[in-house]
Amino acid sequence: MRNDPFMRTYSPRQQAMARAQAQQQPAADVRPASDASGAGVLAQYLVESEPYYRPVADEVELYEAAYSVRMPIMLKGPTGCGKTRFVEYMAWKLQKPLITVACNEDMTASDLVGRFLLDASGTRWQDGPLAVAARHGAICYLDEVVEARQDTTVVIHPLTDARRVLPLEKKGELVEAHPDFQIVISYNPGYQSLMKDLKQSTKQRFGALDFNYPEHDVEAEIVAHESGVSIDVAKNLVHIGERARNLKGHGLDEGLSTRMLIYAGSLIAKGVAPLAACRVALVRPITDDPDMRDALDSAVTTYF
Ligand SMILES: Nc1ncnc2c1ncn2[C@@H]1O[C@H](COP(=O)(O)OP(=O)(O)OP(=O)(O)O)[C@@H](O)[C@H]1O
Ligand SMILES: [Mg+2]
Repeated sequence: MRNDPFMRTYSPRQQAMARAQAQQQPAADVRPASDASGAGVLAQYLVESEPYYRPVADEVELYEAAYSVRMPIMLKGPTGCGKTRFVEYMAWKLQKPLITVACNEDMTASDLVGRFLLDASGTRWQDGPLAVAARHGAICYLDEVVEARQDTTVVIHPLTDARRVLPLEKKGELVEAHPDFQIVISYNPGYQSLMKDLKQSTKQRFGALDFNYPEHDVEAEIVAHESGVSIDVAKNLVHIGERARNLKGHGLDEGLSTRMLIYAGSLIAKGVAPLAACRVALVRPITDDPDMRDALDSAVTTYF
């Protein structure tokens, strides 16, 4: 499926699987990415149908302005509040391909920029997702960038300042970024520790857009649209979410996300009783503390 988000997401595991698959193919079928035309390489990364995105403030206009000057952008906000959906929507709106990289601490610079592969006809270079995006002109979205080690993150530095280049050191090539190329990272301000944070020299290369859970009516609209429940049920779910968010720092590490409210709504829309749906989708995942579960259960029974 071309528009499947999984297909647009790189991970070292996926790359390893793809490498193994490529090695099984006859050598003649394997072409170095740099030989192919940009349009061909990027076709699979185009967001073909409009993703549903409900603007919350002026983030769409601000992003468009940032893209027009190719400013690297950092999307900041808690889990499940719409960052990934927003970047997919913007890529669709701007008609630019979107290459998403799920960052993790095992990721190396080679996973981003590329590596030499050995096959039947010898060694050949394979661009990593960052190199593909820079060379051919896509939006490269590094999701949860703080998970990557700092020595991996610094490879984006020359792309995120006035130089806009990507040195492929192992290959001895300097890729000049395509005019359409832009880099976007996501960052959850609550999660980093002293050991795991972006360097100032990385942070200061980005403009930042703050994301948060939308205000009541907007969030209810999103929950109703995404899950298929009525607006009244969605409003009740949002009330429960707001109650739980007030417990953040008082026993809960993180508030209930919009994503969780949508999960609960989806179960209700499938005919699951609201109490059971909320327990499964809202209460049980976020806490194991019996008192906290009781407090959340009673918030649920207030509204259902
Ligand atoms: N403004 C919005 N418009 C439309 N849908 C939204 C909006 N905000 C949140 N959503 C819904 O919430 C879900 C979760 O959002 P998303 O996956 O974008 O979160 P995220 O901020 O990327 O989270 P994480 O940090 O965990 O990756 C989306 O799948 C979408 O259904
Ligand atoms: Mg996301």
